[in-house]
Amino acid sequence: MKRIGILTGGGDCPGLNPAIRSVVLKAHSLGYECLGIQEGWKGMISGSAKPLKPEDVEPIISWGGTILGTSRTNPYKKEGGTQAVLENFRKLSLDALVAMGGEDTLGVASKLFREHNARVVGVPKTMDNDLSATDYTFGFDTAVTVAVDAAQRLLDTGRSHRRIMVLEVMGRHAGWVALYTGIAAGADYICIPERKVDVTDMTQRLKAAHGRKNVALVVASEAIDLGDVKEEKLDEFGHMILKERGVGEKLSELIQKATGIETRAAVIGHIQRGGPPTLFDRILATRVGLRAAELVHEGRFGQMVALRGDQVDGVPLEEATSKLKTVPREWLDIVDALTGTRVLARAGA
Ligand code: F6P
Repeated sequence: MKRIGILTGGGDCPGLNPAIRSVVLKAHSLGYECLGIQEGWKGMISGSAKPLKPEDVEPIISWGGTILGTSRTNPYKKEGGTQAVLENFRKLSLDALVAMGGEDTLGVASKLFREHNARVVGVPKTMDNDLSATDYTFGFDTAVTVAVDAAQRLLDTGRSHRRIMVLEVMGRHAGWVALYTGIAAGADYICIPERKVDVTDMTQRLKAAHGRKNVALVVASEAIDLGDVKEEKLDEFGHMILKERGVGEKLSELIQKATGIETRAAVIGHIQRGGPPTLFDRILATRVGLRAAELVHEGRFGQMVALRGDQVDGVPLEEATSKLKTVPREWLDIVDALTGTRVLARAGA
């Protein structure tokens, strides 16, 4: 019987379990057995794997996290790491490997394909939604749904105390989570890494909003640079460990000082990555997982399943991982239209 390995790497996110489930169910129907590689590329380096049968995955569509465990291990940064991955590919008798991840995990898959012709297929996941070549990644919808709920709660308590509230969300170097959360929660100011924070503009708008509503809300991405960024710790993929930046708290102090209005900050951090996947994430994860098993069967290695419009199909892993998908200009115009219009409307009233 042919065998497919499945791994989940990088930060976990809701949707991984439904995606594992659909790969296993589809692979089984195509005549493959599956092996669950434990904790991402770490498991491929150590050869740690467990059989994954249809009955193992049947109930997991609603489970958060990943039953396979995950890690931020980069085989290219470990002595003998790549060789170990290739050796274990043979030792575990894998005919193919389905790697689920974001730019880092899939970047490794892409390199293994390019350099060693490894039989890999990628499944895009990340709450950051920053992977190119696909319209959305699963995990994002759930993360934003959680963040919008948090924002609404902050507005309730902020309104009671006549405060300005700052919500810091994750999203690494792309502002998608802050952008969607801010728009959906009706925030008065949205700070994303793609745009330098204009402190004067922000404080003016917040003061005006607070004057109208007795509360104002800022949604800020963890990666914004308030001009105080010095040397930072990096992970194995060279990313800054952003939780140490503390932008929410810093913004809150800055706003309180500039506006004279009491301001509080909240950081929801990893809460955005837990819990059951939303309907959208369950369906997307299921679809991309199914298609990944089909791509293996069709021998389309070096590809990642992408959502484009309403279709899911393979695109080159290279295309998906060579450039980060950040927030483009047209979205900034939408933000300006939403937050700016209210101020203008009031000025003219
Ligand atoms: O990439 C997903 C993500 O949640 C980022 O938004 C965040 O910066 C990072 O992971 C946090 O990583 P960790 O779980 O290692 O603290």
